[in-house]
Amino acid sequence: MKMKKILVTGGLGFIGSHTVVELQNAGFEVIIIDNLSNTKISVLDKITEITGLKPEYHNIDLRVKEDVKLFFNNHKIDGIIHFAAFKAVGESMQNPLDYYENNIGSLVYLLQEMRDRKITNFIFSSSCTVYGQADQLPITENAPVKTAESTYGNTKQIGEEIIKETCKADNLQAIALRYFNPIGAHESIKIGELPLGVPQNLIPFVTQTAAGIRKELAVFGDDYPTIDGTAVRDYIHVVDLAKAHIAALKRLINKENKENFEFFNVGSGTGTSVLEVIKTFEKVSKKPLNYKIVGRREGDITAAYADTTIANKELNWQTEKNLEEALDAAWQWQQKNKE
Ligand code: UFG
Repeated sequence: MKMKKILVTGGLGFIGSHTVVELQNAGFEVIIIDNLSNTKISVLDKITEITGLKPEYHNIDLRVKEDVKLFFNNHKIDGIIHFAAFKAVGESMQNPLDYYENNIGSLVYLLQEMRDRKITNFIFSSSCTVYGQADQLPITENAPVKTAESTYGNTKQIGEEIIKETCKADNLQAIALRYFNPIGAHESIKIGELPLGVPQNLIPFVTQTAAGIRKELAVFGDDYPTIDGTAVRDYIHVVDLAKAHIAALKRLINKENKENFEFFNVGSGTGTSVLEVIKTFEKVSKKPLNYKIVGRREGDITAAYADTTIANKELNWQTEKNLEEALDAAWQWQQKNKE
């Protein structure tokens, strides 16, 4: 069978790079588009070191419609996995228009090219943020989408709506993967998360604190109605998350999808509190972590973790790694990237 050519936008980012590795391992030919707005070009070499295959790479800004068109004029693509987007919740509230332009504009241009060239297979990076604070835990795909708390979250909701409507109007076949909290790094420790500046997310802040880059971790709130008062999330190893994309892509290519637009929860299925994360990290790193409890962070929800029953069954996928393995990889990655 001829190798399927898959375009991965944002393929040098955290989740994108791990997905490119898994795509290559699964026998797909990968073309990456990334404008390096939140990553480094060296990731391309690291992917090549891991897989022995250099993916084709284009530095294209997907907000420039003519450049997007030109790319598709010159490439025949069998499917797209679309990661390229801004992803910082706080920043999105400061610069909503930049978020709408980047996260929505790019999506529309890609879908227009897909329509015009009859490319049907599309995987979209969505987020568990679409559920807000769900009334029932674990969160199933039947949980209602709640009014977004942030512009970032809204771009994911609107993105899903745009895709859903396009699937109705055209022959688009799409799967949105609603990620819970991706963490960790590749087992080779050649690729991982590269947060710019002060990390907003828990795990990079934990590893940077343990490495001495940050003085102490602030734990945002210990008065939530949870097991120990700290907020609960579903942390998923980024390699497990990457593999969910391969499973979703195969579902589309093999025409096993039940609807033109589908969405699945991609998490570990386990809820873990911030203090539990700290305890597990201390065990894995064999270092005590300097932390203090402070007030709640605005906009945070109490608890979110996935019911993965539907994703496990429909995608024929499940997680293979646990929290300890993910934190161990994140810690090794941190030690390798001291600055
Ligand atoms: N936390 C701390 N201290 C920190 C950072 C985080 O205590 O320095 C806590 C947060 O309050 C939260 C948990 O650790 O309870 C996880 O926080 P993250 O920022 O790592 O992750 P979030 O669950 O807040 O955010 C994730 C994604 C977003 C997405 C959001 C939806 O990173 O992209 O889920 O809820 F929008």
